[in-house]
Amino acid sequence: MRRKLIVGNWKMNGNLAGNQVLLGGIKEGAGNIACDLAICAPSPYLAQCQSELANTTIAWGAQDLSVHESGAYTGEISGVMLRDFGCRYVIVGHSERRTYHSESDELVAKKTLQALNAGLTPIVCVGESLAEREAGQTDIVVGRQISAVLAAINVTDLEKIVVAYEPVWAIGTGKTATPQMAQDVHALLRAKLVTTSPVADVKILYGGSMKPDNAKELLAMSDIDGGLIGGASLKAADFLAIGGAV
Ligand code: G3P
Repeated sequence: MRRKLIVGNWKMNGNLAGNQVLLGGIKEGAGNIACDLAICAPSPYLAQCQSELANTTIAWGAQDLSVHESGAYTGEISGVMLRDFGCRYVIVGHSERRTYHSESDELVAKKTLQALNAGLTPIVCVGESLAEREAGQTDIVVGRQISAVLAAINVTDLEKIVVAYEPVWAIGTGKTATPQMAQDVHALLRAKLVTTSPVADVKILYGGSMKPDNAKELLAMSDIDGGLIGGASLKAADFLAIGGAV
C-alpha cells in the first residue's frame, strides 16, 4: 500500500508574515495526519520553509527548475540550488507553465532529468484541456506527456519520481473530476508506469480543485495516491483537512 502524499502548491502566493502563520498552522496540526505532507512554495520563500520545517516531518520543494545545471541563464534556478535550501520535491510541467511558458513535453522531460540529477523528487504534472477531454483525447494526451518523460529517464530512476494528474479544466475552477474520471486516468498512467518498470512503486497524485469536502472520495480510489493542492493549500485548516481525509 503506497503511503499517501498531500502536496501544497502555493503557486505565486504568499508573503513572509502570512507564510509564518500558514506554516505554523500546518505544523501544529501535522501530528494528527496519517500521510506525508509537503509544501511547494515560491522560490524566495524556500529559506523560510527550510527554517520553519527543518525539524518536522513536513517536506518542502519548488514549483519549477531550470533545464540547465548552471551557467549564463539569467533568472533561472537550478536543481542544485534548490537542494541548497533542503528541497525534497520540485514540480515540473505544471499546466500553467506548459501554457504560459510554452513548456513542451520534451522540455518537461529534460527538467525531470535535471531534478533527478540534482537529487530532487520531481512531481511530473500531466493533464488534458477541456477541449481535449471533450474531443475524447484525454488518454492520448496524458499518454504522450508521460511517455516523453519515461523515454528520457533511466528505468531505475522511475521509483524516484511522483506523477500528478491535473485535468487543466479542473484547476482553480471548482470543477473537480469525479472520483471515477480521475481513477480512470490514474489507472491508465499506472499501466504505463508498471509496463516501464514492474517494480517501481510510483505515487500518482490528483490535482484540480481537491477540497476538504471531496478529498475523501478521491483519495479512496485505488490508484489515487494523494493530492497536489492549489487554493486549499493556502489555508492550514483546509490543507490539514485534506490530509486528514486520507
Ligand atoms: O498544482 C495544483 C493545482 O494546479 C491545483 O489547483 O486550486 O484547483 O487546487 P487547485
